[in-house]
Amino acid sequence: MSTALTLIEKLAREELVDMVPYQSARRLFSHGNSASGDTEQTKHKIWLNANEAPGQGEYKISSENINRYPDFQPDNLLNAYSTYCGLERSQILATRGADEGIELIIRSFCRAYRDSILICPPTYGMYAISAENHGAGIVTVPLQSSSQGMQLNLDDLTSQVGKVKVVFLCSPGNPTGNLLSKEDIITAIELFKDSAIVVVDEAYIEFSPEQTSTDLLAKYDNIIVLRTLSKAFALAGLRCGFTLASKDIITLLSKVIAPYPISAPVAEIASKALSTDLEKMGQRVVNCNNLKITLSKWLDEQSWCSEIFASDANFILFRCINPQEKKRIFDSLVEKNILIRDQSKQVQLENCLRISIGSELEITQLKEVLS
Ligand SMILES: Cc1ncc(COP(=O)(O)O)c(C=O)c1O
Repeated sequence: MSTALTLIEKLAREELVDMVPYQSARRLFSHGNSASGDTEQTKHKIWLNANEAPGQGEYKISSENINRYPDFQPDNLLNAYSTYCGLERSQILATRGADEGIELIIRSFCRAYRDSILICPPTYGMYAISAENHGAGIVTVPLQSSSQGMQLNLDDLTSQVGKVKVVFLCSPGNPTGNLLSKEDIITAIELFKDSAIVVVDEAYIEFSPEQTSTDLLAKYDNIIVLRTLSKAFALAGLRCGFTLASKDIITLLSKVIAPYPISAPVAEIASKALSTDLEKMGQRVVNCNNLKITLSKWLDEQSWCSEIFASDANFILFRCINPQEKKRIFDSLVEKNILIRDQSKQVQLENCLRISIGSELEITQLKEVLS
């Protein structure tokens, strides 16, 4: 055993040996071992740590063509997303979640051990993990607090022009929750127009759809927008996301992506969610936004809560008055099988916890435990 390990360590890329993988919500607390994930353990847990949507959809799949490889980009899915987002099919690439889009972008634009990406922490962890995996450098320009929540530091971004190939912006931000100013996004795109691609990650845009940056695709060559069905569409387990960009960028990414990225059952379910089930998604967003307001007001009344971050997404980030209170809140919820996410290791987020907006019942149970 130890000889095998030494051999693997010897053969592996050196930087991967000690690398810590992304600590996803599901790696920190798993669903259990059953293939369906539907174990006793799962049933009794309240999952408010991965910004998923509550409730299950009802989908049937056909096994008619399951002996055949699926189309590279299934027609029904691409047509449905094209109608949904108002872009041409040639501007859309369906991927295994937005996470695959992040990876493809880095692999397509950054040369390993030569080029860098830029991130604005606190932000979504997979940009850095994908860059590390690929051997791309990581430049950080932290967000800064403002009356509009956490926003871009445009002066510091300006000083990085020419030094990075891809800039990742997250709007609404995870874990911060607020939208970035559209004006600032445009400024960033213009700053990097001759030297880098600006990616606007819109995983949570359905919770504030009027703020999308997709209209900028018509004007700028260096923008990519990322989308997912994992949040408002309640399909995190399906693994389906979309990269929206110019035809040239989609052609480039199509050279790097796996030959059959979207399985037939995924295409079938996702197409239904994007057509006949669109209204349900809209209702889910309304419910979530209402629940978010109520929870936010409740948090504001709690003596252990010192700050609530304004949220345009399906979660709320809040700060506890000290590390002891943060630990007490987190642990007392875990003890009752309610899982939220500790964000206190991120820059500027000392003592911060994040609650995903689950069902009304789940949020009531959370409040009961904390009261
Ligand atoms: C900002 C952001 N981008 C991308 C993703 C990944 O989404 P997907 O499930 O489509 O891979 C997440 C998931 O939490 C996220 O928060």
